[in-house]
Amino acid sequence: MPQIETRIDRRAPAFAANRAHYETLLAELRRRQALIVQGGGAAMAERHRQRRKILVRERIDLLLDPLSPFLELSPLAAWDLYDGEVPAAGLVTGIGLIQGVACMIIANDATVKGGSFFHETVKKHVRAQDIAWENRLPCVYLVDCGGAYLPEQDRVFPDKDHFGQTFYNQCRMSAAGLPQISAVFGGCTAGGAYIPALSDEVVMVRGNARIHLGGPPIVKAAINEIVDSETLGGAQMHTEVSGVSDYLAENEAEALLKLRDIIGKLDWPARPAVTEAVAPPRHDPDDLLGIVPADPRLPYDAREIVGRLADDSDFHEFKPAWGETLVCGTARIHGHAVGILANNGVLFSESALKGAHFIELCNQRHIPLLFLQNITGFMIGTEAERGGIAKHSAKLVYAVSTARVPRFTVIVGGSYGAGNYGMCGRGFHPRFLFAWPNARIATMSPEIAVTVLTDLRQQSLQRGKASAAEIQALTEETSRQFTRQSDPYYATARLWDDGIIEPQDTRDVLGLCLALAAAEPRSPGPSPVYRM
Ligand code: COA
Repeated sequence: MPQIETRIDRRAPAFAANRAHYETLLAELRRRQALIVQGGGAAMAERHRQRRKILVRERIDLLLDPLSPFLELSPLAAWDLYDGEVPAAGLVTGIGLIQGVACMIIANDATVKGGSFFHETVKKHVRAQDIAWENRLPCVYLVDCGGAYLPEQDRVFPDKDHFGQTFYNQCRMSAAGLPQISAVFGGCTAGGAYIPALSDEVVMVRGNARIHLGGPPIVKAAINEIVDSETLGGAQMHTEVSGVSDYLAENEAEALLKLRDIIGKLDWPARPAVTEAVAPPRHDPDDLLGIVPADPRLPYDAREIVGRLADDSDFHEFKPAWGETLVCGTARIHGHAVGILANNGVLFSESALKGAHFIELCNQRHIPLLFLQNITGFMIGTEAERGGIAKHSAKLVYAVSTARVPRFTVIVGGSYGAGNYGMCGRGFHPRFLFAWPNARIATMSPEIAVTVLTDLRQQSLQRGKASAAEIQALTEETSRQFTRQSDPYYATARLWDDGIIEPQDTRDVLGLCLALAAAEPRSPGPSPVYRM
């Protein structure tokens, strides 16, 4: 059996130093996660409870099967944006089990600006729907939503991928046979009203839930009708008069039970979780904290990661003696077969060709792909160009783009330049993309960006267009900009990933993602393997 041997010495000072550094990264991640879980803050939570409402994460706990996992997506969306006033973008999304059925949960947090939609809220909502669509998950909407956040309406409402997209998706998913089920817990106006209105089945909670296209102030302004919001759009009226709602629940707990009932009666196929007895990795995933160098420029063997993700640390490595800067091979994670591509240095022509060849093999064998990104880019320079790095790297990008098997990406280090493309970055639509807290994502590192931009300006300087002081200012500004923008929290705030995860949790997260893909029919048609 080809088990990965580890070369890590846990007693080495470097291991201890790396570990100590990583602990600080994890402490910061956990601090930020603890902060966003508080939603709109203590006063808003108290007001919420006084209205006999349950907080959004507690709703989700009650909805899901007891003690079952919940994979929360992009919890740090909108981090550090809007003066920190929109934690989690006011929306909780994630995958959980209801009556054994894996569902996508999309739940507004009414303690954050009335659950209204900011730019990142829309992006998060649409992303959750995309994941649901691709993985064939029923969607359950826990609706408590004031529609578009009006001061931001130009970044929320009019464009192709703005609020309208969420409703378009709902209709199309429903038509494609993916159930769209809503429970309404609070006041839902305009856009907020369409989430339940476009659902296949709707539950409303007596007393608090309201649905109206225009609330009482708009009704008064537009048609001079004076009406209270309960009469205009209350749960009883909508369940017994308008028929907008299908079920009336006396309270939130009952509404959540009704949702569980509806999902339980869908007759939806359960996913095979784990197909056979699974041996955990031989090497402790906790070691990852000491393996990842505190200095991101220092190399380390990607097999040390693979050995802590794969069942029994069993890894069949493809072409181990060729194109060594890309480690490729097959393994199982929680019993599910997976083809792994992991960076072990800069990508040369050989590594790119090997990756393309390996992707074709996985395609032919219907094995999903996992990309572990830690990449500065493809090799540059005369020798590389004369060797055709442009066309060879393009082959890898082409193979990644056209692969028909599910693809998953974890950024475990740097994700720079075209390396991001060749290793299935966000633009290449991996089913899920997660990042570790040490990740860095940018066109290039701050040091290289400074060199490139300064060099460009120096050329202008020689033509008498820029002063030395300007160059100095540019150097500082570029370094600041690239450092700030390549931070993983900058990325996750903008939904460039599906969340920052801890290295030790990676195996379980991937196991869940692979389980979702495992039940799918294999895509038909030829899968040629061209020897590269
Ligand atoms: N746009 C901008 N701000 C909004 C908003 C929206 N659509 N919906 C709520 N807010 C803000 C409120 O101004 C308030 O902000 P503040 O805390 O800074 O004062 C905060 O969210 C909470 O709103 P509040 O009305 O106090 O909460 P509530 O729980 O009593 O009521 C709603 C929630 C959603 C029923 C109610 O806020 C509402 O009707 N909002 C407007 C809905 C609307 O007209 N939407 C049209 C969108 S196209």
